[in-house]
Amino acid sequence: MTYILGIESSCDETAASVVVDGKTIASNVVASQIDLHAEFGGVFPEVASRAHVEAISTVVNQAMSDAGIAYSQLDAIAVTQGPGLVGSLLVGINYAKGLAMSTNKPLLGINHLEGHIYSLWLTQPFREVTFPVLVLIVSGGHTELLLMSGHGEYQRLGGTIDDAAGEAFDKVGRMLQLPFPGGPHIERTARLGNATAYVFPRAKRDETFDFSFSGLKTAVMREATVQPSGKDRSQRKRGSEKRARLRTDISVNDVAASFQDAVTDILVEKAARAAQEYGATEIFMAGGVSANQMLRQKMRKETELPVRYPPLNLCTDNGAMIAAAAYFRFQEGYRSQLDLDVRTMWPLSNGTYTE
Ligand code: KG4
Ligand code: ZN
Repeated sequence: MTYILGIESSCDETAASVVVDGKTIASNVVASQIDLHAEFGGVFPEVASRAHVEAISTVVNQAMSDAGIAYSQLDAIAVTQGPGLVGSLLVGINYAKGLAMSTNKPLLGINHLEGHIYSLWLTQPFREVTFPVLVLIVSGGHTELLLMSGHGEYQRLGGTIDDAAGEAFDKVGRMLQLPFPGGPHIERTARLGNATAYVFPRAKRDETFDFSFSGLKTAVMREATVQPSGKDRSQRKRGSEKRARLRTDISVNDVAASFQDAVTDILVEKAARAAQEYGATEIFMAGGVSANQMLRQKMRKETELPVRYPPLNLCTDNGAMIAAAAYFRFQEGYRSQLDLDVRTMWPLSNGTYTE
């Protein structure tokens, strides 16, 4: 049996987990910083890295004691090397380096997006995968459409050209004065609303597999908010959803439902078409937004192919997905140097681990 400790600190969760043979979770500890960032309405990088520093050793020790194993029993230590926030990533990487050095275990720097994909290998009971599969990663920082033709083999078909899907949820959540992060709150609010009350644009319904959510965000903002005028105008462009005032004559429930309907339509249409065009056997969804029930239902309805998504607790960031991805890399013989560098920008594609 192969025991891998996975450490994740790329954004606002400090997480660690022990995974056995890439599939069985022996422990999974996640310290979320949501409460800390709620007052800023988004992730504040300096606050995030400080919170990681404070949490990391407790989280890792807890993961080891929950798994009931000693450091000497580990086969490898895996850590998110990127993409993500530099200060946050560094906390996990430095901690993992220290552990690898002091325990004399191999260290593996793992791509966070690959981690999201491998959260699907942690689904119980596990069904064997017949490649190629179409992968849709939808998180707070990424919207990626990939064709996965084997372990570690990815062809990037498209991605967002502006906001990530989760980012769009978060921005619209902020406009609607819902708590941070917007995604789960919009989903909850939308259940009480009418998804056909407003017709928002399904942007980028074109031949490519790229996504764009900024037009949709602007359309929601026009419908739901009153823009600042006069001297505030110069501030309109960046973060304008923060300054806009919510109109009092709209139904937040209806706006949330109609927005969610539009985002999920866009995601499903592209993913289903890509799966068909590239002869995928299944559609895999991963990342925070894949927790969304409307997205899951529509994807199942719009395609004949089987659709997989992670269990709810593994959609958002966690250490188990990092350990699961590391298992396949470990078996291939991949090892990182003890002086590995952070990779804040790290697109997932073939040969991505050797560049
Ligand atoms: O994967 P994740 O934890 O972090 C990144 O790697 O970015 O994803 C977090 C994102 C946030 O934008 C959050 O609003 C969104 O996932 N999210 C959801 C839901 N749960 C989380 N979006 C829509 N519906 C949900 N139920
Ligand atoms: Zn993530």
